[in-house]
Amino acid sequence: MTKDTALNILALHGPNLNLLGTREPEIYGAVPLAAIDAQLASLAKTLGASLQCRQSNHEGELVEWIQNAQATFDGIVINPAAYTHTSLAIADALRAVKLPCIEVHLSNIFARETQRHQSLIAPHVIGCIAGFGANSYALGLRALIEHLNAS
Ligand code: DQA
Repeated sequence: MTKDTALNILALHGPNLNLLGTREPEIYGAVPLAAIDAQLASLAKTLGASLQCRQSNHEGELVEWIQNAQATFDGIVINPAAYTHTSLAIADALRAVKLPCIEVHLSNIFARETQRHQSLIAPHVIGCIAGFGANSYALGLRALIEHLNAS
């Protein structure tokens, strides 16, 4: 597949985000991942972009998706979940592909336990949106599309 003229965005969800809806709803909200993906797809359409959403519980799979994104996608919205705080491999993949990327988190990671305050991903993204629940994704997608349209 090659890049076409319309913006093509990849949304990546890291480990345990497949459990959204039932997983600690007091922290992550009650919206299931499928509903977040559907909202994002409709927002992308409104903004004139196409979107593919993928979730994995495996670091290597996320790394491969990031590596392969360069051929097909114009930018990435990523919630690396717990890998945010541990994964040099995902950070290195983002550095390597140099695609514009927005990091998103449902919860405000900076207001939580200290081990969640550090993001290994943050130095390699345009910006980070955290703390707005499912809306963090929508804000991230808007920010990425505005960035791409301006560049
Ligand atoms: C998260 C925050 C991470 O610390 C946590 O490990 C997650 C989800 C969030 O979206 O708030 O799984 O990325």
